[in-house]
Amino acid sequence: MTSTVWTTDMLADATQFLPDSASTSSGRVDTLYLFLVSVTIFFVSLISLLILIFVIKYRRRPDAVRARAPSHKSLGMEIAWSVIPLIIVLASFFWGASIYIDLHTPPTAATEIYVVGKQWMWKLYHPGGQREINALHVPVGRAVKLTMTSEDVIHSFFIPAFRVKQDVLPGRYTQLWFEATKPGEYHLFCAEYCGTEHSRMIGKVVVMEPLEFQDWLRSGEDTVSLAVAGRDLFEKVGCHTCHGPDSGARGPRLEGIYGRQVQLRNGTARVDEAYLRESILKPANKIVAGFEPIMPTYQTTLSEEQVLELIAYIRSLGHAPGADSEDKP
Ligand code: CUA
Repeated sequence: MTSTVWTTDMLADATQFLPDSASTSSGRVDTLYLFLVSVTIFFVSLISLLILIFVIKYRRRPDAVRARAPSHKSLGMEIAWSVIPLIIVLASFFWGASIYIDLHTPPTAATEIYVVGKQWMWKLYHPGGQREINALHVPVGRAVKLTMTSEDVIHSFFIPAFRVKQDVLPGRYTQLWFEATKPGEYHLFCAEYCGTEHSRMIGKVVVMEPLEFQDWLRSGEDTVSLAVAGRDLFEKVGCHTCHGPDSGARGPRLEGIYGRQVQLRNGTARVDEAYLRESILKPANKIVAGFEPIMPTYQTTLSEEQVLELIAYIRSLGHAPGADSEDKP
């Protein structure tokens, strides 16, 4: 029906209405978008045109004989106007679903960065300890995975040039990934109304050449990595008294726990960021088999940033083999 064949020139012209296209997924998103727009334009034109023609052709004339109801129905037409839209709609669905799944499946080798949203700013934490506010520096040509949470209300992390957007929720980790393809500066928005200064909760994403990015990472000389900050915190808060080597096994040991499946009193759980966060803030929710529910909650004691540091430390204690390859939603 719609023989929408886009030449590269037409595509270039049409995409001028869209923001910069600067990630590995933005081209795919745009193509689907253009497909949907052209299907819409095609049918709007077809239907409007037919309405116009019929209005004129079948208008009431003074000498007109009253038309009788048609004596037969056209099976062919009925099938056509059911099957053709069905094919178009199903094609859009599977096409969109495959892009959606890709957008929600970060590659295993992605660089990981943590994001905390709060009224009204974005705080970003690199594993090396570099912190940023309302700015995110990333290398070009490398997958970057963001693990995000909020300190207060729902925000939404949106980089139009990468065609990625993800809600950032209090009490939960959500993820987003992208791979930038062009060095430059791009807009970063909060795309969920979050209070008075929502519209000012903006920033920039700076995409740099890999070497330049390494220099940038090094420029923060005195940064303490998240894992090291987490280790200090682990001692300061007293986690080691139950989870350390001399704890008399009051709590489970944490070495190599990240990425593993653990046996709970009822059921099992996979140890990821969300599990660790829950176990720190609401330890009674999931009790590891063979242990007593004696751990106090740290909900009022620790900030989201400190929880991220503790998670980084626990991750640094070792990886279960092949753990990250199971990192699927
Ligand atoms: Cu944060 Cu809107």
